[in-house]
Amino acid sequence: MTLPIVAFGNPVLRKHAKDITPDYPDLKKFIDDMWETMYSSKGVGLAAPQVNKAIRLFVMDSKQIFENQDDEDRGKYDDEPGIRKVFINPEIIELSGNEWAYNEGCLSIPKIREDVYRPEAVLIEYLDSTFTLRKELYTGLTSRIIQHEYDHLEGKLFIDYLKPLRKKMLQGKINDISKGKVKVDYKMSFSK
Ligand code: NI
Repeated sequence: MTLPIVAFGNPVLRKHAKDITPDYPDLKKFIDDMWETMYSSKGVGLAAPQVNKAIRLFVMDSKQIFENQDDEDRGKYDDEPGIRKVFINPEIIELSGNEWAYNEGCLSIPKIREDVYRPEAVLIEYLDSTFTLRKELYTGLTSRIIQHEYDHLEGKLFIDYLKPLRKKMLQGKINDISKGKVKVDYKMSFSK
């Protein structure tokens, strides 16, 4: 089942999400719905707050980016062919390496894409779908997506990284999104 994606302006996107336990109601079904929602909206990552659940869980699939890459872009990122994973109760242990820019977007803030600088590597501890504790280091686009999705669990959005002047220029568009004045080809819920 695809779930409606909450648009910018909904307070759930600004909450600090809470850890869950293995007995979280209908968890398997929820994760299946997260995958379905992410793929049907052509996203590469989706965090639970984006479907109105303030819990620490996100799904991501960096494989998709590499599969859709032009031949000339092949081999550009060191994390090819990418990963497809669910992260439960994640905690970033360390961010390291040089900051680099990538043009990011977000399903909750449609039609806006902006360059965001983030560190190259992320060391993250999390539970996988079987609630097994893992600690892994990621780089490249996989690290990029993980950092973006993790931010959602902290109530942070990619537009928070923009320079004040740039943000000011986008304010009209951002306000329109929160009011539902945006056309998207996936289900969204607007709070105003
Ligand atoms: Ni996002």
